[in-house]
Amino acid sequence: MITLTSLNNFLSKLLIYDKKFNLSLVDPYMANGLVYHGEEKINKIALAVSASLTVFEMAKKADAQALIVHHVFNFPPNVRYDQLFQNRYSFLVKNNLSLFGYHFLLDSHPQIGHNVSIIKEIGGTIEKPFLHKGNPWGYFGRVNNLPLAKIINGLKNKLSPSMTLYDFGPKNINRVVAISGRGTPLPPDIQYLVDNKVDLFITGENSEWIREIFREVKINYLAGGHYHTERFGILALEKLIKEKLEVETEFIELVNNV
Ligand SMILES: [Fe+2]
Ligand SMILES: [Fe+2]
Repeated sequence: MITLTSLNNFLSKLLIYDKKFNLSLVDPYMANGLVYHGEEKINKIALAVSASLTVFEMAKKADAQALIVHHVFNFPPNVRYDQLFQNRYSFLVKNNLSLFGYHFLLDSHPQIGHNVSIIKEIGGTIEKPFLHKGNPWGYFGRVNNLPLAKIINGLKNKLSPSMTLYDFGPKNINRVVAISGRGTPLPPDIQYLVDNKVDLFITGENSEWIREIFREVKINYLAGGHYHTERFGILALEKLIKEKLEVETEFIELVNNV
């Protein structure tokens, strides 16, 4: 058994890895911390990629007192009634289920984030942050002339069955970018990839215009699924909690192929 206060301290210390971030500017719409303070005594922590009523019910059924997710729900944009928000929030209140959300901090975390975890998974070393809209959401990684086919084979069973690969770039990879979730590059970012000699761009989602852009710049593009690329950091966080805290954990798998 641990307390919610000690869990909150542990998570804040671990995940707020750089005190200089102004999180309300970097990530204004998603939570990076404790969202609902419920039961103080915690025997079990549930972890999931995204908050939803179904995930809350699964956490409750698993007998967890706290839930940690990457995507919390959106808060009402104005001071008005919002049915979706009220239903989700009232479930937490009625069931005394604490909720933590770590969005930007889990994408960008230099030890357990989704993107460093993806780079480590393919045997790469971390080089430097990859900027998205000016902020370090992803990472550049280095592998040593690794065949693309070997990377894809090694990753495949951890990615979405609906993943997309555009193998328009080199057959052997030296530099990758990992930016999980909806990390699809914006048109001005393409030159940033070219200038940095990126051979493989790994993200979660795809967009219509991406295929021809990547064909023209001759860079490989892998969209491994938003959900699947954002399991990595949650699973790394679960492993660390198991190692460091005297508490049970359970990963709540509400799989989503997007
Ligand atoms: Fe993310
Ligand atoms: Fe995401």
